[in-house]
Amino acid sequence: MVSRIIPVDAFDLVVFGGTGDLARRKILPALFRRYCAGQMPEGAQVIGAARSEMNDAEFRAFVTEAVEEFNGNFQYSDEDLQGFLSILFYVTLDALGDGGWSELATKMQADRVRVFYFSVGPSLFGPLAERLHTYGMADMNTRIVVEKPFGRDLETSKALNRSLADHFDEHQIYRIDHYLGKETVQNLMAIRFGNMLFEPLWNSQYVDHIQITVSETVGVQGRGDYYDRAGAMRDMVQNHLMQLLCLIAMEPPSRFEPDAVRDEKLKVIRALDPVDPDNIVRGQYSAEGDRAGYLADVGDPHSTTESFIALKLHLSNWRWAGTPFYLRTGKRMRARSSEIAVVFKETPHSIFDEEAGRHRNILTIRLQPNEGIDLDVTIKEPGPGGMRLVDVPLDMTFTEALGPEAEYVPDAYERLIMDVVRGNQTLFMRGDEVEAAWAWTDPIIAGWEERRDKPLPYDTGSSGPVDALALMHRDGRRWREVRS
Ligand code: BG6
Repeated sequence: MVSRIIPVDAFDLVVFGGTGDLARRKILPALFRRYCAGQMPEGAQVIGAARSEMNDAEFRAFVTEAVEEFNGNFQYSDEDLQGFLSILFYVTLDALGDGGWSELATKMQADRVRVFYFSVGPSLFGPLAERLHTYGMADMNTRIVVEKPFGRDLETSKALNRSLADHFDEHQIYRIDHYLGKETVQNLMAIRFGNMLFEPLWNSQYVDHIQITVSETVGVQGRGDYYDRAGAMRDMVQNHLMQLLCLIAMEPPSRFEPDAVRDEKLKVIRALDPVDPDNIVRGQYSAEGDRAGYLADVGDPHSTTESFIALKLHLSNWRWAGTPFYLRTGKRMRARSSEIAVVFKETPHSIFDEEAGRHRNILTIRLQPNEGIDLDVTIKEPGPGGMRLVDVPLDMTFTEALGPEAEYVPDAYERLIMDVVRGNQTLFMRGDEVEAAWAWTDPIIAGWEERRDKPLPYDTGSSGPVDALALMHRDGRRWREVRS
């Protein structure tokens, strides 16, 4: 396999919140890896901007530590690192005042793409956008990148969209959902729309149900304040799982282009039925040995926020009427494993005797770890003794199928940031999509609040509360095992 680097013109990229956690863990290491891949053209500049007093040398030392700590097994030379550091600069900036803005403006080069990454809380989105205009840094080549949480309900997300729209056109606003940047998530589109094999079967006539699982082993990881106000519904379902659902359920877009794809995703969200409370299970992880439970992690013994959620959903449209979608996500579960499973129906009639059993095809898209795609097919068990059937996977583990070069899967942030530089919005959420997702989520959360719903405890290292298993059992189905 030959990896292709698509060249880009020189650009200026400013990271607001450049000394923050996301910048340190994700954004700056991702930019470094793109630098090593040869994708930073001559003259490109990366400028950190934040409240902390720092000079360029101190920022470079900060980035060096971030690169060393958050690059996993990625191999690089000292020359790579020194080269990257030489394109880094820093400006101390007051997001709500005037300090540092003129200095930042003087660092911008004329006539080139400018990316402003808002790696800050949403309350600063409006003030930053406004100052970019006041200080003459915004033109048609300017793009802004905003992170989740994009609001906490429909009303706040609308207000955020309005405040950005006051200063930038929609085609300049890149709302990141890093799940869309994951390699296998894009492969999902390649599988569906690049093959003749699957699309004719991709509907309720042939698909029994679809499961989406995003299971994590980590807890709230020092983000207790934020997480306890969000919970799994706002933190994961409204965005990441919703985006996966959209890609799996949408109609084929006419082209792989931003609005064509996003129009189809929006239709999926709008076709979602309201969810019956009986079809939702909420959970909260308990203490185990010397590992604190959720309540201690967030420092509130009375918190009723969920760290796990499982739901059964229906889409009211021709393609999916009658096919349920089961979604679940949780923290402190048995394994880190995210996958989508498309479970096909059994054959309408079996020509074999009972002993052969009934079987089904399952297409599994493994997002992480061990990215790949499996298709379970039914074959004859080898050997004499009659017709016994067995399911075997046609395994498309990318590293095995594509050779060692596929072992390096660029991180979602690497791909998404370079898409911003290239001006490609296909893998970013449009404002109306985000609002539609909140419009569906809000009544569910309001229902919990009205009923003073309490999440069920579950053991660390389990698959969530047993009621989540029952959610499927009562339909005669079962979750796939969570394994890494
Ligand atoms: C983030 C959530 O958006 O996604 C976190 O805020 C979660 O709570 C994370 O842990 C999961 O991302 P990934 O890429 O590790 O699956």
